[in-house]
Amino acid sequence: MWSGAARCSLGGRGPRAGSPRLPAFHGACESKRAGGGKGPARPAGGLPCRPVSNRAKYRRCAKAYPVLDGRVPSAYRQVFEENVRNSEAVIKRYSELLETVSKGGGENAILRHTQRNKKLFVRERLKLLLDDESFLELSPLAGLNLPYGDVPAAGCLTGIGKICGVWCVFVANDATVKGGTIYPIGVKKQLRAQEIAMQNRLLSVYLVDSGGAFLPLQSELFPDKSHGGRIFYNEAIMSAMRIPQVAVVCGSCVAGGAYVPTMAEEAVIIDKIGTLFLGGPPLVKAATGEYVSPEDLGGARLHSEVSGCSDHFASSEKEAYECIRNIISTLNYDPLPEEVVEHDSPLYSSDELLGLAPQDCRCTLPVKLILSRLMDGSRFQEFKANYGTTLVTGFGHVQGRLVGIVANNGELSHDASLKGSHFVQLCSQRSIPILFFQNTAPHTAGPTNISQCGRSFSPNFLFLWPNARVALVDSRHFSTVPQAGDSDCAGDELELKQLKEKLEEESSAFYSSARLWDDGIILPQNTRKVIAQCLEIIEQQKYQAVSPCRYPVIRM
Ligand code: COA
Repeated sequence: MWSGAARCSLGGRGPRAGSPRLPAFHGACESKRAGGGKGPARPAGGLPCRPVSNRAKYRRCAKAYPVLDGRVPSAYRQVFEENVRNSEAVIKRYSELLETVSKGGGENAILRHTQRNKKLFVRERLKLLLDDESFLELSPLAGLNLPYGDVPAAGCLTGIGKICGVWCVFVANDATVKGGTIYPIGVKKQLRAQEIAMQNRLLSVYLVDSGGAFLPLQSELFPDKSHGGRIFYNEAIMSAMRIPQVAVVCGSCVAGGAYVPTMAEEAVIIDKIGTLFLGGPPLVKAATGEYVSPEDLGGARLHSEVSGCSDHFASSEKEAYECIRNIISTLNYDPLPEEVVEHDSPLYSSDELLGLAPQDCRCTLPVKLILSRLMDGSRFQEFKANYGTTLVTGFGHVQGRLVGIVANNGELSHDASLKGSHFVQLCSQRSIPILFFQNTAPHTAGPTNISQCGRSFSPNFLFLWPNARVALVDSRHFSTVPQAGDSDCAGDELELKQLKEKLEEESSAFYSSARLWDDGIILPQNTRKVIAQCLEIIEQQKYQAVSPCRYPVIRM
């Protein structure tokens, strides 16, 4: 596998998805709120530790790190300009796709959803639920151009936003996409959101408005281990891990759609628009001949007053999201301290990253030019600067948070690999999150990006720049590959052309993101902001008091 720059993945040491073990966030200093005056910090790893704020840590050390020279040498100007043109083209494509996806199932479906069904569009719901709009949406392009068609945003929005100051994962069905039914890619997206919640110990909010399984694809949806049932299984595991989950029934929740809120620890149901049943009125009619209204079969009053499946009755959507905020305030869950971490901006403009995002992996510019546009004050404490130079390792700060960097700067040689593994162990010993910048050429031996915290190594987050390419081979090299058989030359050429086109298409960042091989495409110029957000999200678990618990909340 190769990736023409840049994929960046962020790895921290936390509990693995699916594991009900309690967290060992970065090994040390699992303190209660730093400087929060709530008693002494809890010792971790047997050693007592003194809570030190990020601000104090930053003041103590960062200013002394050497400043990188980020000026682009004139010899690189032409490549730089070509990269800018390519970046602008792929960013245009990215923006167009985002625009399409932001309309969910399309204007008619939104009208039907809002006017006839009297519900809020999913993005309006998030505005009411979250503190502000600075949330991190995950994989918005998932589901595009799949063999079974386009499924905008995989039919459900996922991401991480703040509620009452606490970072939370949200999973919100978009009922304008085929009634919010769950496609295979939607299952994958929800499972990834849960994995992120487990790995980073983030409480989760489900906004459920789903007709359950998308029936034409049922064989790809329910029988296997990582199919729909895993979502419900994870809810139980997360509860046992003491990761709270709350749900709002804000539409018709049928079959699989009904399990999510009933497995959550607390659920709110909205009058008139929220219903919950395994089979709806048409099924009852078919089975028993009896007509029953959706309200009587599984409406808000029925579930709040008779079945007990929901814990809170809300008379409107607005009231439901206020109720969620109140529930969150009862979780005994501390947000990150609201300290402003002092930091310097990089000395070079992030817009210039467009010229450093390579179009062609054969002409990659030195990676320190990229780092100088991402690190606070462009400062970087390099490790083993003169050894294994095709991998750059060292420390820097992103918006005041210390991070270890492992960045490709050419072919991953033997020395570079040794240096990388040494550095990763240093970060691990010191409980420092690692930021990997992956950019390895396809003709290097082996799929090097996998070992650099690729998807199979479960990084906390993995993002792509829109210029990135992810593949085992560079299709351009295929002109030298011997052609099979000695049949008619024209046929072979056609075959080769088709193969090249296929490989080209399959290696694009859009192809990858549509299939959830990553957590989304981010713009080069937003990279620093996204990394800072991720570092803050990862850090939140340090401020939680977690006591062991081996079983989940069993509601009924
Ligand atoms: N599988 C595949 N497609 C489904 C579906 C399902 N389970 N449920 C709904 N759809 C499709 C509809 O065919 C329709 O498609 P169209 O826009 O191409 O015509 C679209 O989703 C919207 O459905 P519609 O019934 O018009 O919208 P609605 O808002 O009035 O109702 C539901 C939405 C989900 C409440 C309703 O469609 C329903 O009850 N569906 C059946 C759910 C079910 O039985 N699930 C069992 C899963 S095991």
